[in-house]
Amino acid sequence: MLRRGLFITFEGPEGSGKTTHSKLLCEFLHKKGFKVLHTREPGGTLISEKIRKILLDPKNKGMGVGCEMLLYMAARAQIVKEKILPSLEQRKIVICDRFTDATLAYQGYAGGIDLKVIDNIASIVTKGLKPDITFLLDIDARLGLLRAGRSKDRMERKSVLYHNKVRSGYLDIARKESGRVKVISATAKIKDVQSVIRNFTLLTMSKV
Ligand code: TMP
Repeated sequence: MLRRGLFITFEGPEGSGKTTHSKLLCEFLHKKGFKVLHTREPGGTLISEKIRKILLDPKNKGMGVGCEMLLYMAARAQIVKEKILPSLEQRKIVICDRFTDATLAYQGYAGGIDLKVIDNIASIVTKGLKPDITFLLDIDARLGLLRAGRSKDRMERKSVLYHNKVRSGYLDIARKESGRVKVISATAKIKDVQSVIRNFTLLTMSKV
């Protein structure tokens, strides 16, 4: 049992493999006997999954970036209150596929909303919660979009230029917060990427 809960997030452009890696890490820690919650954003609760459907529905192509940002935040407010904070209080390891960094990268760096405004709203909806570790799986935006496949959701349909800005936004966040964000090239073999993730997680856990 850990002395406190641990919050791990996975980030990256489309097609970076973060869902695969977050699930593999979850299985690994579960087998070691830790209590783990694996979840995703937007989603993870009944209400947040409904908001996810609105956000990703290609029919909502007229959605403005302000509406988009506030819906992501609304989904986040609910999952933080309903799932993430209670699980951390029970000293679980929470692994979340995307979190506030995604809003900074997508709606901030790529969408043009002031990063300070996003930070302020995020600190209200998350009650100041920050991940202990963030794995940023980095990949060329065009390659990632190809990997993501053909049936594209509303966000994946945005231009390559937009997705390039998402990628460089993520890398900028990693530069500013190098203690928290670990950048890993997503083009290496799954086994090798996963081994870096596991070792880094175990090292952090030994300090908690
Ligand atoms: P997913 O494909 O990782 O499940 O995420 C859904 C999409 O939502 C993906 O295109 C990234 C995007 N997104 C944002 O634009 N802002 C956010 O705050 C979050 C959490 C995701």
